[in-house]
Amino acid sequence: MTEKKKKAKKTVGKTEPKEQSAKDPNPDHAVIADYNGYDYKKIFWEDGKRDYEDLCDRLAVRKLLPDAMDDFVDIAGGYGRLTDEYISRAKNSTIFDYSKTELADAKKTYGDRITTKEGDIYNLPFKDETFDGLMMVRATHHFKDMPKVIEELYRVMKPGGVAVIEIASKKTLPKMFRYWFRKSDINPFSKEPSYLKELEMYNYHPKYMEDLFKKQGFKILKVLSVSNFRSPKLKKMFGTKFLGRLEKVAQPTLAPIRFAPSIYYKLEKTPKNA
Ligand SMILES: C[S@@+](CC[C@H](N)C(=O)[O-])C[C@H]1O[C@@H](n2cnc3c(N)ncnc32)[C@H](O)[C@@H]1O
Repeated sequence: MTEKKKKAKKTVGKTEPKEQSAKDPNPDHAVIADYNGYDYKKIFWEDGKRDYEDLCDRLAVRKLLPDAMDDFVDIAGGYGRLTDEYISRAKNSTIFDYSKTELADAKKTYGDRITTKEGDIYNLPFKDETFDGLMMVRATHHFKDMPKVIEELYRVMKPGGVAVIEIASKKTLPKMFRYWFRKSDINPFSKEPSYLKELEMYNYHPKYMEDLFKKQGFKILKVLSVSNFRSPKLKKMFGTKFLGRLEKVAQPTLAPIRFAPSIYYKLEKTPKNA
C-alpha cells in the first residue's frame, strides 16, 4: 500500500477519542465516524477513483426520489455530493450532517440554494413532521442503534412523505465467500447486524432493515440493488461507462435477491401499526 493510501485509510472519518453528546449519554449513540477536518470529497471520492460508485448512487436516487417535493432533507448528506440530483425537485432543500467541515463545503458549492443543519442523527434538530422528502445514503454503516435512527427519520417526516434510504448490506457475495472459506466469522445470512472492528463499521442484513422499516410504520414502495459490480478488477477491466450501462439494468433486475453491497429503499411514511 502506498503512503498516500495508508494515510487516507487511517484518517477516514475516525474520532479519537469517541465523541459523546452531552445531551445523549447512551454509549450506543457515540459518534464513531467524525468527518470534521477530513477531506471526504478528495480522499474518498476523487483519489479513491469511485466514479462507478458515484454513478450507481445517482442512477438509484434519480429513479427513486419523487419529482416534486416541498421540504426535503438529505440526512448525513456530507458535502452535498448528491445535491444536484434533488435540488431542482424540492422547493426547500436541507443538508443535515454532524460535520462542520462537510456542511461548510456544501455551503461553498450551493450557497443560499440550500440550508445546512448540524447535529447528531440520534437527536435530529427538527420538529415532528417537517419533511415530505428525505434521503439517507452511505450512512447506515456509521450507526449502531439503527432502531433509534429509523425512529428519528420517521418522526421528522410528514405523513405520506417519501424516504429514500440506502443500507450497507452484510449479505454480499464476497462476504459469503469469506464466510464459507473461514476467512471471516461473520455469517452474512444471519439477520443480526455485524460490526467490522478494524473499519469501525456496521453492516445490516436487508431483512433486518425491512422488518425495522415496517415495524416503524414505513411502507416499502420499491427496492434497488446498487453498485452490483463494485470490484476494483471489474472497474479496471470495463470502465465506468460500460459498467454504468450494466448497472442500470441490474439495479431493478437483481433487487429481488438483494444482491449488491448497497440496497436502496423507497419508503412511504404510513401511520404506525397501520
Ligand atoms: C460516508 S459519508 C456520506 C455522505 C453523503 N451521504 C454521500 O453519500 O456522499 C457519511 C456522513 O455521515 C455523517 N455522520 C456520521 N455520523 C453521524 C452522526 N452521528 N450524525 C450525523 N451525521 C453523521 C458524516 O459526517 C458524513 O458526512
